Amino acid sequence: MVDDLPRAVLGFATGATPGPTYRALGTLVAAGEVDFTGVSVFLLDEYLGLGATDPRSYRATIRREAAGPLGVPDGAVFGPEADAADPQEACQRYEDQIHAAGGIDVLMLGIGRNGHVGFNEPGTPFNLRTHVTTLCDATRVDNARYFGSVADVPTYAITQGPATICDARRILLVATGAAKAPAIARALTGEVDEDCPASILRTHPEVRVLVDPDAAVGLGEHVRRVARLGEG
Ligand code: PGA
Repeated sequence: MVDDLPRAVLGFATGATPGPTYRALGTLVAAGEVDFTGVSVFLLDEYLGLGATDPRSYRATIRREAAGPLGVPDGAVFGPEADAADPQEACQRYEDQIHAAGGIDVLMLGIGRNGHVGFNEPGTPFNLRTHVTTLCDATRVDNARYFGSVADVPTYAITQGPATICDARRILLVATGAAKAPAIARALTGEVDEDCPASILRTHPEVRVLVDPDAAVGLGEHVRRVARLGEG
């Protein structure tokens, strides 16, 4: 894929889910099988108030755990300026940067237990672009492991909005582990509505969903039904 697009614009999620993918890609880079030096990377989201040099920021995390090992130059890693004096302006600037880069070719997403994608929490209007959002308690609890305590997890974040996400040409949604099974089942087999932000992906023409058996548990009957249709 990257060989097809040596100057690809990639969207990278942070969190536990994509780590193995970044490490696997790092192995290919180390073996000289792919070259990411012409690629640029756009973050999916960022905690409000954390500057790019704060090691807890997603910008620093992606540089450390993904872009750096892949050989993407620091200057080609973009994220919302979450420590800007005017966060609303920072959101617009980020939209402009994505646009100026030609849009995102491939966007990698995880999913929250509550069905969020990026930091678009349940109830986020589908037509929102990059915006400031308030994190749900469940999200702050899930991310406390990176901050030491729930109280230290920022309350606000900047995230690509559902409309920004759906502008990506191709999307890869990855979910692993039983804790994600209800969200995956809701997103893929429930109503397409704002109560489950990930459900908007069903309106996108180029989405691949990768789930491990634990995360797929709630899809059992649905998957069997699709398989039967395939046989027919
Ligand atoms: P996780 O987070 O990969 O750390 O489970 C995913 C998400 O909240 O979108």
